[in-house]
This record gives sequence, structure tokens and C-alpha cells, in this order.
Amino acid sequence: MTEAKLISALNEENLSHFSKTYVPSRLLLGPGPSNAHPEVLKALSLNPIGHLDEAYISLMSDVQELLRYTWQCNNRLTLPMSGTGSAAMEASIANFIEEGEKILIAKKGYFGDRLIDMATRYKAQVSVMEKPWGEAFSYDEIKYEIETKKPAIFAIVHAETSSGVLQPLDGIGDICRKNNCLFLVDAVTSLGALELLIDEWKIDLAYSCSQKGLSCPPGLSPFTMNKRAEEKLSIRKTKVPNWYLDLSLLNKYWGSDRVYHHTAPVNMNFAIREGLRLIANEGLENVWKRHNTNASKLWNGLESLGMELHVSEDYRLPTLTTVKIPPAVDGDGFRNHLLGKFGIEIGNGLGELSGKVWRVGLMGFNSSEENVDRLLNLFDTELKKFSIFESSTF
Ligand SMILES: Cc1ncc(COP(=O)(O)O)c(C=O)c1O
Repeated sequence: MTEAKLISALNEENLSHFSKTYVPSRLLLGPGPSNAHPEVLKALSLNPIGHLDEAYISLMSDVQELLRYTWQCNNRLTLPMSGTGSAAMEASIANFIEEGEKILIAKKGYFGDRLIDMATRYKAQVSVMEKPWGEAFSYDEIKYEIETKKPAIFAIVHAETSSGVLQPLDGIGDICRKNNCLFLVDAVTSLGALELLIDEWKIDLAYSCSQKGLSCPPGLSPFTMNKRAEEKLSIRKTKVPNWYLDLSLLNKYWGSDRVYHHTAPVNMNFAIREGLRLIANEGLENVWKRHNTNASKLWNGLESLGMELHVSEDYRLPTLTTVKIPPAVDGDGFRNHLLGKFGIEIGNGLGELSGKVWRVGLMGFNSSEENVDRLLNLFDTELKKFSIFESSTF
């Protein structure tokens, strides 16, 4: 064997950088990830078992059953995809779009743009309907666009994390069915936190993430599709142009056969089982109520401190509040201060709202009265230190 000269990771100089892994303690009140529940972290730290082990196969069934409850659906194909929310988002496009197929995307923020980008990469014929960041679409606007554009798929974000808007979805499923179109919903910032009724609202395809309402770390993306979507998939003329996200292959692992597709991130599945179990124990309606109550308390508290909220109350998103940065305030300074001094993260505005709003998240385990009180107290006592002018009034 020839003597190889290995590149050394550790030498005298950088040894100190590689001390035992440490991360500071944070309270994550931004757009996500949110803190994981302590019980979820315990499940995550269990020793891995094989992804075809009987015990794991049984855990997979539990995850699917608990996901169906959380999605409020009876869809056979309900599974957590390996990857963050964008993985199931891309699966929804990759599997259901063939070259030249028409998709109508309702864009009212950053994540509508991501759907447009993905659909374009998969060579869809993309139509876009648009609203300013901070507004929602009306039923009539959606009906008109679907009836005139006649898309094969209509895609919309339920909870727009960039703008803080909750899109009403009532009745849209019926419009889609009448127009022979699939109804695709991004529920990344609503699943496990806000009312979402996949079967009742006639949603054909939906995806979410693990790191928000489900109180887990990022890494899995729950996905569900109904029979209408299965039928559409079965008449595809071409192979799904993405091997990892091909639902007909994933179906062999998550469907009845349990045939190897890829090595499942087993620990993340332990974690999501626990996150979903906690939701089921609390009861979905209680979970929704908790998120709404804590969000209202935050909104009232901020307004009584003289802050303005970006979205009108009718469409305001309980999981993510966009708070206008007062003109006389150093927004980044305040945000960095909360993180540096108190270990609390709130988000900057994204895209066109960058520098104009802060984004405050109350999701999953973090949606608690105690967290709201703590944050309101800091807005009250610390914000005045970041006034750009001499006066501390906004
Ligand atoms: C509404 C929405 N859709 C999609 C995504 C993408 O999810 P991920 O970052 O987990 O890939 C996010 C991320 O926050 C989101 O908020």
C-alpha cells in the first residue's frame, strides 16, 4: 500500500474549533424552524434501527395514521417525505406536471414565487394570478381565473410565511372539481397549527414541513394526495423526471409493499411520530384554539404598545405575524439585540418586505402564553433603545 498523505482536519491551530458540538439555547419566535418539543428531542436521540425492521415498519404505519388525522383526510398516500418542506413541494410539481401542462399559481408572497420557479423548471405552462404581499385572494377572483385559464392544476399557499396572510380555502375545491383541475395547497405554516380540512375542503394534493406546527426539527415534509391525484399520476405519459421524489416509487415503500427505495431518515421519523402523537393527545381542535388564542394575545399586546400590524385582521395569519418596523426604529438592531442578549429569534422581512416588517412566529410547541408575555415585555422595555431619533416615541 502506498503511503498516502492525508489532509489533517485537526492541527494545533484549529483544534480548539473542533471542541464538542455546542449550540446556544434559543427561543425561536421567527418564521421557522420553531423549537422542537422536549419529548420530540428524546425520540430523536434514540438509537437508529433498520428502515426495514419490523419495528420500524410498524412505526411508519403509526406516522401515516397520525398524519391522516392531522391532515384530516383518509388518503391512502399520506407520508412524510425525506427532506424539508421544499422536497414535498417539488414532488407535487414533478409528479403532476408533464411538459406543456397548464398550472395556475396564485402568488401573494415569496413562496408563490418558489412554486412558479419549480413549475417552470419542470416545463409547465405557467399562469400567475397575483396580489400584493399582505392581501389574500377572494373566492370570485379565484373562480374567474380557473374558469378562464382552465389549468390542469391550481396551486395556492394557505399560510404565506413571507407576508403573514392566511388564505381562505373554502369552496375552491368545488371550483377545481367543476373545472377538472387538481387543487394543490402549500400548508407548510398551517399543518398542525391551524384549521385545515383536506377531505372536507376537497384538496387533492398538499404538503407541509416538520419544523413548524409539528414541533420537530426540519428534515421531513408531510405530503398527502387523494384518489383524483392518484388517477392523474396513473395516466402520465412520461417518467417522473426526478427519481428521489417519484411518488410511484415512494408508494412501493410507503404503500403496502414496504420495498426499499432510499434509506429513510429513521430518527426524524421517530421524532415526527412523537410530534404527531402530542398533537393527537392534545386534540386537533384544542391545538388550533391554542394557536388562535396566543396569536390574538400577541396582536392585542403589540397594538396596545403602539405597533402596527401589516395584515388586516380578516386575513391575519395566527402562526406568523408581520409587524411593521416603526420608521424611527433600527429594525435590525432590535432583532439582533433580542437574539444576542435574550436568545430570542424573530425574523426579518423576506423579499419585498425586507427591512419593513419583523416576522414573529408562534408555532407548535412555541405557541404559548408564556412566550407571548415574554416577547411583549421585551417590545415594551427594549424597543425604545433602538429609536433612531432622540425621542422614544414611534
Ligand atoms: C409557505 C412555505 N412554503 C414552503 C416553504 C419551504 O419549506 P422548507 O424551507 O422547509 O424547505 C416554506 C418555508 O418556510 C414556507 O414557509
